[in-house]
Amino acid sequence: MSQEELFLDSVAAGQVTEKKSRSNLGLVVTGLLGGSLVALYAVATPFVTPALRKVCLPFVPATTAQVENVLRVLRARTGRLVDIGSGDGRIVIAAAKHGFKASGFELNPWLVWYSRYKAFREGVHRSTSFHISDLWKVSFAQYSNVVIFGVPQMMDQLEVKLASELPSTAKVVACRFPFPTWVPECTAGEGIDTVWVYDAKTFKTQLQNGMTREMTPEPKDKPDSPT
Ligand SMILES: C[S@@+](CC[C@H](N)C(=O)[O-])C[C@H]1O[C@@H](n2cnc3c(N)ncnc32)[C@H](O)[C@@H]1O
Repeated sequence: MSQEELFLDSVAAGQVTEKKSRSNLGLVVTGLLGGSLVALYAVATPFVTPALRKVCLPFVPATTAQVENVLRVLRARTGRLVDIGSGDGRIVIAAAKHGFKASGFELNPWLVWYSRYKAFREGVHRSTSFHISDLWKVSFAQYSNVVIFGVPQMMDQLEVKLASELPSTAKVVACRFPFPTWVPECTAGEGIDTVWVYDAKTFKTQLQNGMTREMTPEPKDKPDSPT
């Protein structure tokens, strides 16, 4: 083989190798891009879907003052505590540090996994539990301390649910938005950090009275006496 042929051969081989490595690079870039998009979708979806539900309850974490107000109004209480829609677990973890056996129910799995990790890091994993659940599909009957940071659109429905499920020894603390018909026994904080405290004995009586009124038939008019 002449020098010239050898040279042409090596150039052709170089071109083939270059083409192969370029197509490999293309595959890697496509894979990375696709993988990143899938990961972004998986992370973002649970944060976006609450906005698409009938009642939009987005993740807005409680402020430090709000958490302090919750703990202040529950300081003399004992028993089990639940935070309905527990977000990143801050209320549950703070309550556990104050001696409660505390649970959180949350729709977003990322927030639940993060809450478990945070509870473990802060040494309260034995007195906390976090559940990936829809708040409308679980019963809160076993809890005597209930915390909710909801939105006004859901509070009337939640009034009915809690009044029918909770024991009469329970207290309910609403953060930022009060319940529409229950009468609070006290409040703490101000502005967006306000919390309202409700006594179950009071709102359960209210529910029973409301029901009795609805279920009692209207008194019939007396028949006209013959003239
Ligand atoms: C306003 S944030 C309150 C978070 C936490 N309680 C706090 O005070 O920091 C409401 C939380 O409820 C969750 N959520 C929305 N709809 C829910 C549902 N149907 N069941 C359970 N959690 C829900 C949201 O993902 C969000 O984390």
